[in-house]
Amino acid sequence: MRTVLGLIGSPRRLGNSEVLVKEIAARIEPAVDLQLVRLTDLDLKPCRGCYQCLEKGGECVIKDDVGQVFDALCRADGVILAAPTYFLGAYGVVKTLVDRSNMLLPRAEETDGKPALVLTLAGVTGRDGRAPADLCGAALTLGLTIKAQRTVFAALPGEVFLAGQNLDAAQEMARALFEPTAEPAAALGTCPVCGANAFAFIEAGVKCLVCQGRGQLEMTADGPRLSIEADAEGFLSGKEWRLRHADWLLGMKARFMEHKKELKEIVLEYRHQGQWLGKQDQ
Ligand SMILES: Cc1cc2nc3c(=O)[nH]c(=O)nc-3n(C[C@H](O)[C@H](O)[C@H](O)COP(=O)(O)O)c2cc1C
Repeated sequence: MRTVLGLIGSPRRLGNSEVLVKEIAARIEPAVDLQLVRLTDLDLKPCRGCYQCLEKGGECVIKDDVGQVFDALCRADGVILAAPTYFLGAYGVVKTLVDRSNMLLPRAEETDGKPALVLTLAGVTGRDGRAPADLCGAALTLGLTIKAQRTVFAALPGEVFLAGQNLDAAQEMARALFEPTAEPAAALGTCPVCGANAFAFIEAGVKCLVCQGRGQLEMTADGPRLSIEADAEGFLSGKEWRLRHADWLLGMKARFMEHKKELKEIVLEYRHQGQWLGKQDQ
């Protein structure tokens, strides 16, 4: 039996993210074993930016629960990531997790290409802001392949299925997770490379703010259609990119050692400027 990991990025028990993930998982055929992680229940500390995980084969110096989540991710056959929009962005615990994911770079073989569904919950129609892009970026950063992404509008806990709404969407998502397609479903207005829906306008057309692919926007009778070329460097995607990036980051250590003295001189100039609030030890 396949294992699906539900990553719940909401503090609300039995909130919309949770029930949507459970409903989708229950509709996957053949039946799957659903394992759940509520990120807010765990002790997840912010990344310290020390890069020691890369030198230690993925082991972090911070002693908290992040390893549990990454181990579960490596074991799973598929992932459903769901989180609410808070003030136009995805709930912060998802970013806290993703910021720790340099730990996963040495484990690219175990994570790369796992199918994922990305679900953004939002309480006000049309006010999901950049949350879908945050969550698609999170999925790609974790090495996942987005098979489908969707924003579901519902405010009250459970409202997601009030009067039976969104059950069809749940069915569609359930089908998409293990569907044998190489590309994510290119819904109108979404990036055909990664499935995200956040773009910047650049001189040559548009750039996907998640996978960094570039291309053109065409307004068709059905709606906006995007043709996007994947980023040549494969930014955030693929096992090869991940392993290369880990090497590049390790190479930065040599550069740091080379310039250590000059760098120290620069920062020490700023040491006694300003007054720190709180109990920060300077
Ligand atoms: C502090 C806070 C900020 C929110 N900000 C937004 C927002 O910017 N846009 C929006 O559409 N909904 C917003 N919401 C509503 C939630 O996204 C919505 O209720 C969602 O269904 C919650 O999902 P959950 O039940 O899984 O926690 C906010 C809710 C809270 C508590």
